[in-house]
Amino acid sequence: MAEYDVVLESVHKTFPGEVHAVIDFNAEFEKGEFVAMLGPSGCGKTTILRMIGGLEEVTQGNIIIAGQNVTDLPPSHRDTAMMFQSFALFPHRTVFQNIEFSLKMQGLAREERDRRTWEMAEMVGLSELARRRPHDLSGGQQQRVALARALISKPTVLLLDEPLGSLDYNLRQTMMVELKKIQRETGITFIMVTHSQQEAMSMADKVIVMSDAIIQQTGTSREIHEEPRTKFVAEFIGNNNIFQGTIKSRSGSIVFVESEDATYYVRIPEYVRTVRVGEEVHFSVRADLLHTGEHPEMANRVRGNYITTEFMGTLETDVFEITDGFYVHVEQHRHLTDRVYNMGEAETICWPAEAGVLLEQAGK
Ligand SMILES: Nc1ncnc2c1ncn2[C@@H]1O[C@H](COP(=O)(O)OP(=O)(O)OP(=O)(O)O)[C@@H](O)[C@H]1O
Ligand SMILES: [Mg+2]
Repeated sequence: MAEYDVVLESVHKTFPGEVHAVIDFNAEFEKGEFVAMLGPSGCGKTTILRMIGGLEEVTQGNIIIAGQNVTDLPPSHRDTAMMFQSFALFPHRTVFQNIEFSLKMQGLAREERDRRTWEMAEMVGLSELARRRPHDLSGGQQQRVALARALISKPTVLLLDEPLGSLDYNLRQTMMVELKKIQRETGITFIMVTHSQQEAMSMADKVIVMSDAIIQQTGTSREIHEEPRTKFVAEFIGNNNIFQGTIKSRSGSIVFVESEDATYYVRIPEYVRTVRVGEEVHFSVRADLLHTGEHPEMANRVRGNYITTEFMGTLETDVFEITDGFYVHVEQHRHLTDRVYNMGEAETICWPAEAGVLLEQAGK
């Protein structure tokens, strides 16, 4: 049996004025796991983190940390530490003193404090800067101080609220790798909140996708990437094309879906239990599984008009308009010698039956 560090059982949070910030939240976080809670602004991420840390009361439900029901315990009785988006470092203390702070509060002897603080400064790569004050550091360095300060008390669980939110793109890329490395080295359970799917997918062992106070899907990055379960997840994760139509028939694990101007073959993932003929459905196809040009071996094809190309390094996404206002994104590795489209040019786009994933319909 897996060992759980944190368990949330049917947790609800209602703020005055009937604001349902969190509804029936169930999750299990394994010891040493890096979990990301991902969702748009206002979906309840920070509220959950604050409830785990004891900074916000639970309206209903239970929170269990390391086997103990802590639902009604104050923050000081929970083995958690929190790292906020705004680092809130002490401006007049040195890096060393900032990191050392909670050990001092615990009343540890000087020698022990020194040893552990240097160890931590070393780990986050700050030993050279230990005598500086926060305003003489870069954003990324300040962030490391905040991380070191949160980690030094060796909490069972570290709660991170948008930890990379204020960093620029390059620094964020670097810190993503470092944060992951530090998490691995310390073996501390990390629960991180973010609205960036890239951060969640590249760092976390497990991702919880949320919208409007509820969980949409829980899974590994790969699971969420390859099999988004709902229309919300497929849209939020990005680079998915969402199609709509009516189920006409089923053959084994494939359904035949018809829309006004096309017919499609779509895979039914294992978790979709019932498929009703005549039902309106959505399905999702990843942009990297679409192919331009005629491919007779592929079951699906649509015609579209070229609109534009989005560049992302060696990867390019061509956008085609299929019907008025309905765009399809095709991700391709292109070389300089490959064909270049002209605005409005017609093209065929194909994909195999297995590439389309039937999405769970809302309310089921
Ligand atoms: N103290 C409060 N009183 C009333 N409503 C609140 C309070 N705190 C949060 N809310 C509401 O609860 C909902 C969830 O807020 P929360 O801060 O958890 O969202 P979030 O997912 O962290 O969003 P963001 O990505 O913008 O930080 C929002 O509708 C918010 O307005
Ligand atoms: Mg928040």
